[in-house]
Amino acid sequence: MSDSTHPLITEKLTMHFGGLAALEDIDLVVERDTTHAIIGPNGAGKSTFFNCLTGLLRPTGGRILLEGRDITGLPPERISQLGVARSYQITNIFPGSTCLENIRVAVQSRQPTSSFLRHHRADAATLEGAAGIIETIGLGGKEDLMASSLSHGQQRNLEIGIALATEPTLLCLDEPTAGMSASETRDIVELIRRIGASLTILVVEHDMHVVMSLAQRITVLDYGQVLAQGTPAEIQANPQVQEAYLKM
Ligand SMILES: Nc1ncnc2c1ncn2[C@@H]1O[C@H](COP(=O)(O)OP(=O)(O)O)[C@@H](O)[C@H]1O
Ligand SMILES: [Mg+2]
Repeated sequence: MSDSTHPLITEKLTMHFGGLAALEDIDLVVERDTTHAIIGPNGAGKSTFFNCLTGLLRPTGGRILLEGRDITGLPPERISQLGVARSYQITNIFPGSTCLENIRVAVQSRQPTSSFLRHHRADAATLEGAAGIIETIGLGGKEDLMASSLSHGQQRNLEIGIALATEPTLLCLDEPTAGMSASETRDIVELIRRIGASLTILVVEHDMHVVMSLAQRITVLDYGQVLAQGTPAEIQANPQVQEAYLKM
């Protein structure tokens, strides 16, 4: 199977900060339309991995292949254009705009034509696309509400909607359930599962219950290295993983 059949491959991805190896020789393959979780104790290198992948950090070694294309060290805007969307914690939202406006602007950002050339029909398609995403993220009926008036959980859903609107190849979710109530967590897990049926998702998450219920594949990092990779069942049964977590 050629590399281009995988949404994401890292080959010996390495990030050193001076003498500290935050990531060392990380080999990882993400299969299409799977939800792949990256877990590990604090300081394991999870955020560094995301930062390298999205271009916020330039790796000191190794390669990152997106659909077989080398994106190592490209700037964040370029990596985003190439289809890697990262959901930050709400920071992509325009709070003073409506839900629909937030999504519509994101859908539009994907379209190459400049605004004065755009046809009415394209605007209609944009609105239709935005409306579909609003439904997907469970905000149907809330189109005209200000984003700032949504609950924390609804804002996180809106953020995922904004990421979806850019039609990503790979959606990176950084602790999607952080700061959420139990019911909000249930809702977002359900949303991620729904969109994950037809989208490749890479997720960093602390809540093991969430990880085990969402991920088809798990990579465990510890001190910047891959400690284990496998299915949730394999990871749960792995004695080294249990030890890494016990010493936290
Ligand atoms: N910009 C940086 N400069 C120096 N050291 C960093 C930087 N970012 C992260 N680190 C270090 O790299 C290691 C991995 O950090 P991080 O990726 O944030 O771990 P995690 O997200 O798994 O908790 C830690 O030891 C952290 O202190
Ligand atoms: Mg982190």
